[in-house]
Amino acid sequence: MRNINDLSELTMEEFRELYKLTSNIIDRPEGYADSARGKVLGSLFYEPSTRTNLSFSTAMMRLGGSVMGFSDPNSSSTSKGETLKDTITMVSSYADMIVMRNPREGAAKAAALYSSVPVINAGDGGHLHPTQTLADMTTILRRRGSANHMKIGICGDLKYGRTVHSLIKFLQKFEDVQFYLIAPRELAIPEYIRRFMVEHGMQFYEVSGLEPVIPMLDVLYMTRIQKERFTSEAEYNSLKGIYCLNARKLRDAKPELLVMHPLPRVDEIAQDVDDDPRAVYFDQARYGMYARMALLLTLSRQPYRKPGKAPEGVHGCRCTNPKCVTKTEPYLPMLTVHSAEGECCAYCDKPVDAYDEPLQEEE
Ligand code: NCD
Repeated sequence: MRNINDLSELTMEEFRELYKLTSNIIDRPEGYADSARGKVLGSLFYEPSTRTNLSFSTAMMRLGGSVMGFSDPNSSSTSKGETLKDTITMVSSYADMIVMRNPREGAAKAAALYSSVPVINAGDGGHLHPTQTLADMTTILRRRGSANHMKIGICGDLKYGRTVHSLIKFLQKFEDVQFYLIAPRELAIPEYIRRFMVEHGMQFYEVSGLEPVIPMLDVLYMTRIQKERFTSEAEYNSLKGIYCLNARKLRDAKPELLVMHPLPRVDEIAQDVDDDPRAVYFDQARYGMYARMALLLTLSRQPYRKPGKAPEGVHGCRCTNPKCVTKTEPYLPMLTVHSAEGECCAYCDKPVDAYDEPLQEEE
């Protein structure tokens, strides 16, 4: 385990180790107070964050390490036009690990190409958010004992919700998980996630109503409508507030249901749910800090490794996603992956298309 870009790349063996360490830290946090003494975490937040940023900083401090970086890109050299490649090359020569949140999809994968230390993806646009999945999995495993044999409802913004994409991909590793994907058509899961679920034979139902499915669920994962990712304010306004879980709607739910939310919540969970013992979202945030401690501790033991030359890209194709990191960092090699439905961008998972390269002018 070196870079954490997409949690589903972790083997079950690696995940079990990480979860075991997380559990040990939860049970005896004082035993780890000095375990990363002298280590430095570079924390690069190009997008606003409260929970994830504070959670990573606290996790590093609780291990005895320190944190440097920025939480406002306007205070970094990016505002002077510095490339991601240069920022990462420089920061990775100061820090022992880097955690990065960036609005461009695929940014963490791109950063890892140029880093001599492990890079952790703390959210890349609407794409993935692997450490939130660690928080989610820790919550499910601590509270339910297992993630096998469960019915999980995921409700809200499944299109732009990166925590949703990471969680779905990771749950593929477990047995007999049934998904109820609750969203209006406009906010349904992206095509590449649907394709992933079909390819892996995952059981899922796409529905638009929350109330009818609540009684059968073991886990209900609520999410906020991601206002900042909409291109039109009118579209956001037409969809905001469509789901609101409240105490009344939970009356027919199972007594052992887990109500989860990556937070921040806006209006999708009413305050009257907070005192219900089935509401675990604030515990989920705390578990996230412990899971990040386990991750930082594991990665801090990785040796410094000078990055090799970036791989050769594929010529004659480009990513079709306007939010892909390759659009703003044009020096990146165009890397692709094969999928059942064709060639996709290795950074953001969206399809690529072919284009005719301009003919080289003869001298
Ligand atoms: C999530 C995120 O940033 O994607 N928040 C978080 O990390 N806890 C969810 C969200 O912003 O809605």
